[in-house]
Amino acid sequence: MSKKRIGILTSGGDCAGLNAVIRAVVHRADLLDWEVLGIINGTAGLMKEEPEYRKLELKDFDGNMLRRGGTVLGTTNKGNPFSYPMPDGTFKDRSDEIIAGAKKLGLEAIIGIGGDGSFAILQKLAEKGDFKLVGIPKTIDNDIGKTETSVGFDTAVTVATEALDRLQPTAASHDRVMILEVMGRDAGHIALASGIAGGADVILLPEIPYSVDAVAKKLKQVKAKGRNFALVVVSEAVKKQDGGSAKMKYADGEKRYGGIGYVIGDELAVATGFETRVTILGHVQRGSAPTYNDRMLASALGVKAVDLVAEGKFDRMVAWQDRKVVDVPIAEAIAAYQDVDLDGTLVHTARALGICLGDE
Ligand code: F6P
Repeated sequence: MSKKRIGILTSGGDCAGLNAVIRAVVHRADLLDWEVLGIINGTAGLMKEEPEYRKLELKDFDGNMLRRGGTVLGTTNKGNPFSYPMPDGTFKDRSDEIIAGAKKLGLEAIIGIGGDGSFAILQKLAEKGDFKLVGIPKTIDNDIGKTETSVGFDTAVTVATEALDRLQPTAASHDRVMILEVMGRDAGHIALASGIAGGADVILLPEIPYSVDAVAKKLKQVKAKGRNFALVVVSEAVKKQDGGSAKMKYADGEKRYGGIGYVIGDELAVATGFETRVTILGHVQRGSAPTYNDRMLASALGVKAVDLVAEGKFDRMVAWQDRKVVDVPIAEAIAAYQDVDLDGTLVHTARALGICLGDE
């Protein structure tokens, strides 16, 4: 009898811990004597005439993979295959090419490591192409529902917290207000967690509209109480006073959040007269070696995903709930987008510590 063969791919923006997930899958599959094919660049690898993949073997995943940032398989966060941008500017449904690629490889199932956007595409492909899918949640934004955390989030928060640790002494040396802009897309989880952990005075979240007066009042209070510096964390999707978002348009036509820190830095300098400086942390939050928490999570979720394939349980996402790994219908996870809970513990903690969240 031929060996069971599964495929694994990473999709969407990269983050720390992806290689640790792939490693866990390879280790678990090896114990079951299965073959694992790593698909290159997410679904784009299956779109090729000859699908692009790499046979993943234990010997390649024994050493530093647990520690290594990024994804050795490559990934992409653009180009929906159902409406794929072609070089002539038109859009084409290329889903059949991907399905053909998956069939050509003779995959028993595909383990997709992604966020909600990638899951939605993978699920549609699996449905249309009648292939088996298990999802593993990853995103620094931590906005996937039905799981308390996703691979990459802990590392991103650790990097942002370390940035505050580094900003604090220079802020104190120069009597400055330091503004740190962090990622997170439309959810303020990175800002809230790192702001609390890094001792911020103000944390601005996309979920709470801010008033310049409220923030300026807080900064003046900090000074009045005898401290010569302040730390402000701003989430990238915080809306400007006119309701618009700060976005960068890149040469490839892609638009991404970025720059709200400068807008708010200027407003606060004018409103308080304090010297302000702005740091935009950007992709540094995605690039480092994973923290121990992300390595543990990656290992536990990777093992569970293979176990689901062994049990023949598909269309599921593995998840972390209540100190345990569980599995949930992938459609439920996609539907349950999770931004910051305004009545939740961390918002309460921040307010109870006297941290200004921009609204009072
Ligand atoms: O979703 C992850 C994320 O890092 C967001 O926090 C950020 O807004 C976006 O991706 C950046 O995307 P790109 O890597 O395309 O610049």
